[in-house]
Amino acid sequence: MRMYFSVFLFTVLLPILTAKATPLSLMPIPQQVSITEGSLVFDNEIKVAIHGFSAQRQAFLLARMQQYIERITGKPIPLRVVKRGKADLTIRVENIETELQFPQLNMPEDYLLQIKKGGIVLSATSVFGAQHGLASLLQLAQSNTSRQLILPYTTISDNPRFPWRGLLIDSVRHFMPIATIKRQLDGMAAAKLNVLHWHLTDDQGWRMESKVFPKLTQLASDGLYYRQSEVKEVIEYASLLGIRVVPEFGMPGHASAIAVAYPELMTKAKPYEMERHWGVFKPLLNIASPDVYAFIDDLLAEMTSLFPDGYLHIGGDEVEPEHWLESPEIQELMAKHALEDGHDLQNYFNTRVQKLIAKHQRVMMGWDEIFHPALPKDTVVQSWRGHDSLNAIAEAGYQGILSTGFYIDQPQYSSFHYRNDPNPVLPTVDLTQSRVLNLAFTIPRLKGSAVKGELVVLGGQVLIKLNNNRHQLAQTDKPITSKTQQFTAAMDSWMGPLQFEFNTAQQQGAAMIGNSRYPLTLEALEKPQPVEVSTPLSQLNDGRILGGEATIWSEMVSEHNLDVRIWPRLFVIAERLWSAKTLTDSKQMYARLDHISDFAHNVIGLGHKTQQQAGFHRLISTTLGEPKRKATLALLTHLAELVEPSHYYTRHHIKFLNDEYHQFAALDKFVDYVAVESRQVRLLEERVESYIAGDNTALAHIGAILQRWQAGLEALTLLQQSPKLTEAHSAALTVTQFIALSQQVLEVCKGALQAPHLDSQLLALQNLTDEVVITGIYPVRALYLHCN
Ligand code: ACM
Repeated sequence: MRMYFSVFLFTVLLPILTAKATPLSLMPIPQQVSITEGSLVFDNEIKVAIHGFSAQRQAFLLARMQQYIERITGKPIPLRVVKRGKADLTIRVENIETELQFPQLNMPEDYLLQIKKGGIVLSATSVFGAQHGLASLLQLAQSNTSRQLILPYTTISDNPRFPWRGLLIDSVRHFMPIATIKRQLDGMAAAKLNVLHWHLTDDQGWRMESKVFPKLTQLASDGLYYRQSEVKEVIEYASLLGIRVVPEFGMPGHASAIAVAYPELMTKAKPYEMERHWGVFKPLLNIASPDVYAFIDDLLAEMTSLFPDGYLHIGGDEVEPEHWLESPEIQELMAKHALEDGHDLQNYFNTRVQKLIAKHQRVMMGWDEIFHPALPKDTVVQSWRGHDSLNAIAEAGYQGILSTGFYIDQPQYSSFHYRNDPNPVLPTVDLTQSRVLNLAFTIPRLKGSAVKGELVVLGGQVLIKLNNNRHQLAQTDKPITSKTQQFTAAMDSWMGPLQFEFNTAQQQGAAMIGNSRYPLTLEALEKPQPVEVSTPLSQLNDGRILGGEATIWSEMVSEHNLDVRIWPRLFVIAERLWSAKTLTDSKQMYARLDHISDFAHNVIGLGHKTQQQAGFHRLISTTLGEPKRKATLALLTHLAELVEPSHYYTRHHIKFLNDEYHQFAALDKFVDYVAVESRQVRLLEERVESYIAGDNTALAHIGAILQRWQAGLEALTLLQQSPKLTEAHSAALTVTQFIALSQQVLEVCKGALQAPHLDSQLLALQNLTDEVVITGIYPVRALYLHCN
């Protein structure tokens, strides 16, 4: 484990944390933390007095703590329970747990942890809060060369900002084994997340055993499904970690698996084949049929006997009403109940299903699309369509949770997730300023319709509207007047962070969506509409925002790279949902993220590093001798630090173009094991920013970084000896070219070279259709534009 402090000299109280004094190891940052000089040191054993836990939870917890401590120190330090006498660690809870309790929404999660001379005292209202306290204790723990356990004197008083802090795991698109799910639960507990939203059914499969409706898994799972005993095991394991399990059974759409098993339940009753492609599909339940409600009722009876949580998710997203509108039976239903369209029909269905769910003592939840003026109020809506949708839901009296901006199946920067507050402070926009500029723009995508935008300049304010969303204030690089022909604008969107470059004279530009550069065209805006910006949620209703959930949809993720995609960045989202809203320093967040990544690997046993190594290993030709295999692995590991997978859904769209947008397309390329975000590029970017801000010494650091990058690539021809590394070889060659151009940029900055086209030469190294992105191109181009 990395050491982060040799002596603790600071006494710190949030929110006046400084980067220097912040305990680097804590993530999420507690509400209040103070660290003082001195520490407790344990060598042989830790005497534990523990009160208020069920026997099962106590045994689980202590065994686990002991295992983690051993991973920190490298030697066993037993936790010995003492009934009387002096304890080193005293754990007390107010709400005594007699037998194993299942966590639930709004359970108390507060704790007070004191590590001080004489011992550790952890007190909490509930066992769940106490477990969060132990998670913090572990993050503070260090070791020394004598393999002792060292705990700095610390006081933490903590409780979460939001009660609902979740991760959705999609077990449908790619099946995730039980051990894989449990490992994610280990990570979630370390990050103080408390909901596993388990996506168990969809068009491409039904993954949950039903004894009442056995054909669901017999015909629509390819044999890849969870037995009821396994699900019980996961629920109990989650519960021991303080994590709720909310199952999702998608209906009335995303239901092609039901169609394969029970076609008679569908609006178009005909034989169906398993859906192998990714996307949105048409089969819908026949909501006019009593059999459908009987099916749902029986299924709910069975599933609620397995899943103890108070909430049950019905999906409800992306319902395309075509099959309904074509059906005479549904048309009759519409006439009878005065239903006007697909949305009314879906609400008719939801209202009936909500009654069934309530009968089984559960609260219904679903995605944005279930929101309707007549939706029963006792429903939770999960938003994947953004803050405006979420706020409208809350203002209308529903509870909601945010997932937009937490879609971690899209490679996106952690800093973007960190800014994504479920209840954000909105910038002030002065709508009375005069319009200086009014343009429309189009960003073509590789798949699907183009993103349409409006660029409006009001006074000096740049406002951008995307598709049907509201106008949003963007940050610009310079004051804009009617004469300004080139400028940049930056804002966050559902696609990730956007950085626009507009050239109004040439009527074109570009939009960086994360690390992927999309061309755009500009034209006159024919019919300027009034500017409408988002309004903040009224304070009265902000309690209706329960929290948020990250989502790992698995079209592009398998059990072999799930950890690479989730960790360590889920800690950042966990911090956004747990810690103070005022905590927004992303540089400091990244410093802690680097640390927590090691902790997550070394102590918690998460697989983001091991899966990457194993993935690379499988790509290396088995005909090579061991020294060459080793050298190739080292080379790939180095290369992976310098590049990123293309962000947003660009890779999905590339797969679509290549006819690989389906379940049988292998996920076994170099890019599948490359982390979402390159730390090396971030360091490069920081140096470029320093230089542009006036720090001339940064140039030498940039030179040194580039030299290190190049040194690690010297043996790149090795990659030609493994057929599965063609893509990696080509990326390595491009990185080499990039480094050569970058070295010229440094010469330009020193005034030693004149080179007029380096910016376009840099850009030419990257195509939008490349799944691997040489992200360093962009800061180096910025450097060149600054120096030239
Ligand atoms: C969704 O992403 N369709 C919930």
